[in-house]
Amino acid sequence: MNDESKSQQLKHNDPAGVEVSQQLKSAFFAQDELEWVDWVMPDTWFKLLAINPITGGFTMMLKVAANNKAPIHGHIGSVEGFILEGGFAYEDDWGYAGDYVQEPAGINHKPVTGADGMVMFAIAHGPLAGYNDDGSVALILDAREMYRMAEAAGAASHVDKPAHWE
Ligand SMILES: [Fe+2]
Repeated sequence: MNDESKSQQLKHNDPAGVEVSQQLKSAFFAQDELEWVDWVMPDTWFKLLAINPITGGFTMMLKVAANNKAPIHGHIGSVEGFILEGGFAYEDDWGYAGDYVQEPAGINHKPVTGADGMVMFAIAHGPLAGYNDDGSVALILDAREMYRMAEAAGAASHVDKPAHWE
């Protein structure tokens, strides 16, 4: 093995003019202290962690009850998640605690949970869509609507509200 095969690593040098940034508030948030808020599907709950007012995406903790069948819904933006507890499936494709999950943009699906329900950390890169019985769109769930629901439940004070949402 020669040196060219090694990946480059950052060094503990002292680069000229590069300093550690000071953040206005802590980078950490004790999400355990938030109450779960009813979400848009039966027997599901969320904690809003962050919003992206540019894409309409949002970051949340999501909890789903045991043996839950989610209504069919669509993803306008993709979702990435990490299962923390329990497990769930898309048809016969099961994931469990410790698994990374990705829901591509443009798909419809109706996931189900198992006997343990599930808790996951999820980043929605864009909105979700729910449907009426006739197939028309019933709901667009974006960052603003997520913020509105969290705020109404008194669980959004840690999220900076964009000025144009006033
Ligand atoms: Fe989904």
